[in-house]
Amino acid sequence: MKNIYGALCCGLALFTFGCATAPETEAPAPAEAPETPVVQEVQEVQPAPNSKASVTTKFFAKNKLGQTVMQYTLKGAGGVVMDVINYGGKVVRLYLPDKNGESKDCTLGFNDVAGYETVDPYFGSIIGRYGNRIANGLFVIDGVTYRLPTNNEPGGIPCCLHGGAAGWDTKIWNAQPFQNGDTVGVVFTTTSPDGDQGFPGKVEAKVTYTLTPENVWRIEYEAVPDKKTPINLTQHIYFNFNGEAEGTILDHELTLCCDKMTPVDAGLIPTGEITPVAGTPFDFTTPHKIGERVDTKGDKQLEYGNGYDHNFVLTNPSKNGELAQAAALYDEKSGRYMEVWTTEPGIQFYCGNFLTDKMVGKQGKAYQFRGGLALETQHYPDSPNQPNFPSTIVEPGQVYKTTTEYRFGTK
Ligand code: GLA
Repeated sequence: MKNIYGALCCGLALFTFGCATAPETEAPAPAEAPETPVVQEVQEVQPAPNSKASVTTKFFAKNKLGQTVMQYTLKGAGGVVMDVINYGGKVVRLYLPDKNGESKDCTLGFNDVAGYETVDPYFGSIIGRYGNRIANGLFVIDGVTYRLPTNNEPGGIPCCLHGGAAGWDTKIWNAQPFQNGDTVGVVFTTTSPDGDQGFPGKVEAKVTYTLTPENVWRIEYEAVPDKKTPINLTQHIYFNFNGEAEGTILDHELTLCCDKMTPVDAGLIPTGEITPVAGTPFDFTTPHKIGERVDTKGDKQLEYGNGYDHNFVLTNPSKNGELAQAAALYDEKSGRYMEVWTTEPGIQFYCGNFLTDKMVGKQGKAYQFRGGLALETQHYPDSPNQPNFPSTIVEPGQVYKTTTEYRFGTK
C-alpha cells in the first residue's frame, strides 16, 4: 500500500542556488488553456454498515458556461460535516460542533456558483498551480523566461496570484466520492494543459479530501508535470469559529509554530529575507488574540498587508514526510479548536484584510473586514525568483506530493 506520508514535497529535496546562467530566451506566448472536458459521473457511494459517516451527492448549480457543478456532503462519524463541490474543490459549508455539541457553519462561501465566479476571494478553494504570489508574473527556468498574465497588484505592483486569473480554483474537477468504514472523502483529479495560465508543462493533478472519525480533514496533493515547472498547492478555506458572517475573527486565539517569517515589500512580494518573529507583532509562538497587535502603529509589515498577510516559516518543519504542526486556532466563546499539521515548510496567515461588505454570504448577511481568516500551508511565496528559499521546481515525471491536515475539536 502506498504510504501517504512517504514522500516529501519534492521541492524540499531540490534547492537551487541562483538563476540559470544560460542566455535568456523567451518562452512561447502562453497558450489559451482549453476547457477541461467535464464528465458528469454521479457515483453514489455504498454506505458502510453501522457507520454514522456517509457521503451523498447532489446537484449544486450550473456555472456560467452552463456546466453542472455537483456537491458532495461528507458527514463525518465524529460530528464534522462538510459540503464540497467539484468547482475548484471548494468547501462551501463546514459544520463544526461547539463545546456544547451544537454545530454551526464556520466557513465563508456562497450558495451558488455565480458568487464564486464574480467577487470570490478564493473561498474554500484548491489553489494551483502556484499558491501565493509570483513577482511581476515572471520567472526563469534554464534560461527561458516565462511570462504569466498578472491578476493582482497590491500597492500598484503587479503579480501573478494563486495560479492566475483562471487558476485551479476555477476548474471543474473530476470527482470520485468514497467511503471506507467510518472514513469518507472525495478524490478530485484534473489535467492542466501545457501553457495553462502561462506555466510550462502539462500537469496531472490529484487532490484527495478525507474526513476521518476523529474530525480530521486530510488533504493530499499530488501533481506530476511533463516539463520542469513550479508547483505550490494549497487550500484557501476561510474560518470563523463564531460562525459564517458572525462578526470578525479578531477574538480568535492563534498559535503559529513558526519562529521566523518572510517579510514582504509593498507589493506583498517577499524581500528574500527570513527574519525572526521574536519581539514583533508576528510572534505567535505562544497563543495571542489576532486583534491584539494587528493594528500596531508603525509596523511596516502590518502596514503593507493592512494586517496579517504573511508567510511564516515552521520552526520544526516536516522530516521524512511526517506531518509537523504549523498552527492552532481557538475561540474561547464557542470552544472550537483546530490544529494545522503539514508536510509544507511554510504557512500563510491571512486575516481577511481584503474582505468587505460588498460580499454577501450564504445567510444573506454581508461579510466584513477581517470576517474570516485563512491558514494556507505552502512553500514560500515567489520561490521561483528567490534563490535562498526552498525550491518549488518539479522535474518532468517527478511526483509532487504534500499533505496537510486540519484537525477539528473543542476545548
Ligand atoms: C491570499 C493572499 C491575500 C489575498 C487573498 C485573497 O491569502 O495572501 O493577499 O490576495 O489570498 O483575497
